[in-house]
Amino acid sequence: MQRFNFNKDIKAVVAGEGITRKILGYSENLMVCELTFEKGAIGALHSHFHEQQTYIIEGKFKFTIGDEERVVGPGDCLVKEPNIVHGAVCLEKGKLIDIFTPARKDFLEEECKMKKIALITGGTGGIGFAVAEELGKAGYQIILNGIDDSAAEVAVKKLQDQGIEVEYFHFDVTNEEEIVKSMNLIKSKYDHLDALINNAGGLGGRSRLEVLPTDFFRKVMALNLDSVVFMTREAIPLLKKSKDPSIVNYASNAAWNAGGPGAGIYATAKAGVVTFTRASAKDLAEYGIRVNCVSPGTIDTPFHDATKKKNPDLFESWKNNILLKRFGRPEEVASVIEFLVSEKASFITGEVIQINGGQDLL
Ligand SMILES: NC(=O)c1ccc[n+]([C@@H]2O[C@H](COP(=O)([O-])OP(=O)(O)OC[C@H]3O[C@@H](n4cnc5c(N)ncnc54)[C@H](O)[C@@H]3O)[C@@H](O)[C@H]2O)c1
Repeated sequence: MQRFNFNKDIKAVVAGEGITRKILGYSENLMVCELTFEKGAIGALHSHFHEQQTYIIEGKFKFTIGDEERVVGPGDCLVKEPNIVHGAVCLEKGKLIDIFTPARKDFLEEECKMKKIALITGGTGGIGFAVAEELGKAGYQIILNGIDDSAAEVAVKKLQDQGIEVEYFHFDVTNEEEIVKSMNLIKSKYDHLDALINNAGGLGGRSRLEVLPTDFFRKVMALNLDSVVFMTREAIPLLKKSKDPSIVNYASNAAWNAGGPGAGIYATAKAGVVTFTRASAKDLAEYGIRVNCVSPGTIDTPFHDATKKKNPDLFESWKNNILLKRFGRPEEVASVIEFLVSEKASFITGEVIQINGGQDLL
């Protein structure tokens, strides 16, 4: 193993590939950290002036402490005197608790610098933009995705005018290759992700089943379901590096009432999102990644432009189907999403929240 200088290379030691650190608590004299290691992850050799006690909770590690090498597992405890050179290799995916005396100030500084980051697909307009504003105001740095570059220019300016840090990435979420390429670029620029908001979606038109064009079917599924699956898969490595990672997906009233005329495929895709939310919540729970879903009713956004233009009276009449006799506003969805990704919702996962003004009660 290579020896690292403590001050210069501390990142390689504490936040290396496959290692996640959480500060569980600290005072000036004491700090308790939980570290999770993937199999093969290396805590490079280093030394520091703190005394360190390491308790192995899960897995198997080979530790080097001074001239000694020791393989340890659950229940073992290692005491490292101040300034002794030490490091570890994880032999079997595991977890350990480090207790430092006194507290590691560098860890605290790093923690303070770690701004929360949210990625919002289709965030240049409609509900997605309201989410960008809401999370931006809550202190998140925003990664904004979209395909409409002129809308993006306006959206980015509006966010920056409010002091929100934002970067725009053009990619089409219906295209798996573009997702992979863009997410790789995002991974090279950002070291973690706290919230993935799988917002992009849409009706894509209407078609009766008898005459359903195959291309149309694939397009609607790709936009509303495939995109959620591929974005989730590609975001996992960055989410795993967050202290409190979560994902929010979007269903729709259509998922429950099977959609309006010709919207059956959209409804089917959104019903798939509900089950995928629950399935991914189960799959990702071991990494502490919470996955939830919002299910909006009729929210007044460009989503409804075609109907509004073609038949404004019909659109207005939809209010009669809503208990509160009005359409929802994008910010009324955004505020629920802000709650879901926050620590206030830390015990909520695999849940679907209806935001529909009582639309399903009439
Ligand atoms: N507005 C509603 O009444 C309503 C109801 C239920 C569910 N939803 C869901 O809420 C989410 C947001 O809808 P909205 O009302 O803001 O719609 P919208 O049409 O106003 O916004 C959708 C956004 O997604 C972007 N987008 C479209 N295709 C994309 C692609 N291939 N790649 C990347 N971005 C793409 C658009 O440019 C736009 O910014 C969608 O998933 C939608 O299905 C909306």
